[in-house]
Amino acid sequence: MASDFPLTRTTSPVPAAEREEILAAPGFGRFFTDHMSTATWSAERGWHGHRVGPLEPFSLHPSAAVLHYAQEIFEGLKAYRHADGSVWLFRPEANARRFARSARRMALPELPEEDFLAGVAELIRADEPWVPTPSNEESLYLRPFMFASEAFLGVRPAKEIVFSVIASPAGSYFEGGLSGVTLWVSGTYTRAGKGGTGTAKCGGNYAGGLAAQLEAEEHGCDQVLYLDSAGEGYLEESGTMNLCLVTADGKLITPALGTILEGVTRDTILTLAAESGLTCEERQITLEELRSGAADGSVTEVFAAGTAAVVTPIVGFKGDGYAFTIGDGEPGKQTAALRARVLDIQYGRAEDTHGWLRQV
Ligand code: COI
Repeated sequence: MASDFPLTRTTSPVPAAEREEILAAPGFGRFFTDHMSTATWSAERGWHGHRVGPLEPFSLHPSAAVLHYAQEIFEGLKAYRHADGSVWLFRPEANARRFARSARRMALPELPEEDFLAGVAELIRADEPWVPTPSNEESLYLRPFMFASEAFLGVRPAKEIVFSVIASPAGSYFEGGLSGVTLWVSGTYTRAGKGGTGTAKCGGNYAGGLAAQLEAEEHGCDQVLYLDSAGEGYLEESGTMNLCLVTADGKLITPALGTILEGVTRDTILTLAAESGLTCEERQITLEELRSGAADGSVTEVFAAGTAAVVTPIVGFKGDGYAFTIGDGEPGKQTAALRARVLDIQYGRAEDTHGWLRQV
């Protein structure tokens, strides 16, 4: 990948011994590498000032538009270390394209795809020792983001914008997620409506979901499952993941695009599931179809798909006054097989027949 983000070395990297300790048990989103990529945009100059520099705080005027009107977007992707020590990204162009779509929706300037890719790749090169050698599913999680930095309180698209990429070594998103998680079907909150920002990866969608996440936790669940905002009872997505159902007659069914996030892992799963002989359907699914399918055994497995969570089995659902399990409450075989297939490609243990990997 091209280098358009020249590097300024950090003066105070995390000492190697401390870094190794972090990499041994990184958790998710708690530790950060030594550097960050940045570029700025102004209405007069366009994109400029691309660089990789030390990880450091931003200095923002208190009236910066992002702090008031949440003009902001982000992405999530991972770098994987293969057995020979090489480091690879998985479908980063798909993240770059989604970033551009999110930018259009939030009236932010589009970052050229090659700048997105270079900003990510150059940061990984600068912080290469931070890419974990996987003992399980550890990786380096990359977080590209863009926000309105202009000091101005009027409501209009900002004229000064910052793009940045930070990196964080990551293990499993859900502690113990492999044994399956439970979802709370919120009857109170919805995530997105027609014409809203549901397809954009913008911070506001996640801020709006925090009360629903708390509601889920109060009911002993790991995450929330949203239904459509029109009250039709259609399944949408989970807090940070897309949803997939597997049926006894060999189908993989996932909610159609429209108001949900267009997940890169969702798209990957659709391809791999079809190759493994499942018939894939992207369509509306009602909660009633899921409940009755769980009861009569026609829905055999449910899982969630996302960059952070990879493929996470969902073993049960709860809502106001009801609860049901999927199958015997244990992660299913198709879920395990699809999860293994994705991870095997990402970690270079299986042939990348789709050309999804990019060496850094
Ligand atoms: C990702 O899977 O990259 C996500 O967006 C989840 C994140 C919000 C933790």
